[in-house]
Amino acid sequence: MLKILVVFGTRPEAIKMAPLVRELETRREEIDCKVAVTAQHREMLDQVLSLFGITPAHDLDIMRQGQNLFDITCRALSGLQQVLQMEAPDLVLVHGDTTTTFVAALASFYRQIPVGHVEAGLRTRDKFSPFPEEINRHLTGVLADIHFAPTPTARQNLLDEGLPAGNIFVTGNTVIDALLATARADYRFNDPVLDSVGFDKRILLVTTHRRENLGAPMRGIYRALREIVDDYRDVEVIFPVHKNPAVRRVVEEELGGLDRVRLIEPLDYEPFVNLIGRSYLVLSDSGGLQEEAPSLGKPVLVLRNTTERPEAVCAGTALLAGTTREAVSFETRRLLDDKEFYSRMANAVNPYGDGRASKRIVQAIRYKYGLSAERPDVFCL
Ligand code: UD1
Ligand code: UDP
Repeated sequence: MLKILVVFGTRPEAIKMAPLVRELETRREEIDCKVAVTAQHREMLDQVLSLFGITPAHDLDIMRQGQNLFDITCRALSGLQQVLQMEAPDLVLVHGDTTTTFVAALASFYRQIPVGHVEAGLRTRDKFSPFPEEINRHLTGVLADIHFAPTPTARQNLLDEGLPAGNIFVTGNTVIDALLATARADYRFNDPVLDSVGFDKRILLVTTHRRENLGAPMRGIYRALREIVDDYRDVEVIFPVHKNPAVRRVVEEELGGLDRVRLIEPLDYEPFVNLIGRSYLVLSDSGGLQEEAPSLGKPVLVLRNTTERPEAVCAGTALLAGTTREAVSFETRRLLDDKEFYSRMANAVNPYGDGRASKRIVQAIRYKYGLSAERPDVFCL
């Protein structure tokens, strides 16, 4: 039996690891798969665990209100020491670039357990943007033994850093596996707020949470949104607000009590992705949304100055808007006013995956561990 421990802690990691956990579970005869969560997020993680029916074998429950990077790092590291000692897995799988990701890779290294990194090789080459994610994924890449790169660009980034080609597999992004299993044309919301939304209006779906955007950049974004709802009567903003109190404070100050701005709790993944499909435009500093919206044919204004996901920008479906009031307002108006510009951006493209990423990752693991002689197929754009 190959013993695999999957470790994650936040909402996006859970969404993107859930299809992989499911796929690993189809191989029960040869793979013993367990999940350990740090619970760096609590409610937002639990939403995903319950949707995908995942029961962790270990839950470190580390989240504290207003936690800082030192808190998360220390609590996760010492908690994982015990979990790794108890489970002694043959392989630990981590995802992406959160503090949980880096710490789980570090803890595994300390115990000399091999690490597989899912969503490996994303880079901006800017140490502080996104912060701390750019360095988390670098460090995780250094510690990992097998790298599951979602796209050829990500693979190239890893090759440029001198990693051996034989340890890198181009798989597509598992978020597309999750998305395709969840988005449905006939989906009906079962939520009093969403049921009352007039979908005859043009919906701007907004999320913000990046640490480097806290404070002035977020104010710039929200002021642009105020201007837009003032000037366009047919526009409505739906904004599921991240649980971070530092985000909530500024959102409430800038956007609280406005007509046609709905500030709501984070949505479960199922209504959320189906809401993307009913929106006119997505404005977000999220990583995952830059991957999901293009698949659903929705333009994304990326509320950041850098992106590690150039594929959607190259495909013309995402635009790096920055965070100033002027820039966000200008680009949003362009997409509201210029029908031709909008249609060019609203092309459904799938540069991030085809829904088979988890299968390829499991194939690659089986190949690496001698359970199969067949090399996994490669995801091509
Ligand atoms: C974290 C990740 C970021 C990822 C994001 C996804 C790090 C350093 N950051 O950022 O890479 O993009 O998750 O959302 O790993 N909170 C709750 N309940 C929850 C979740 C959060 O109350 O379910 C509040 C808590 O007060 C917590 C704060 O949000 O202290 C911030 O959470 P934290 O995980 O530290 O940072 P994120 O900004 O969520
Ligand atoms: N998401 C969700 N509910 C929401 C907002 C986002 O389920 O109210 C999902 C979204 O579809 C995407 C993921 O959460 O898959 C992105 O998470 P987040 O933006 O917190 O983190 P990032 O991707 O930037 O790391």
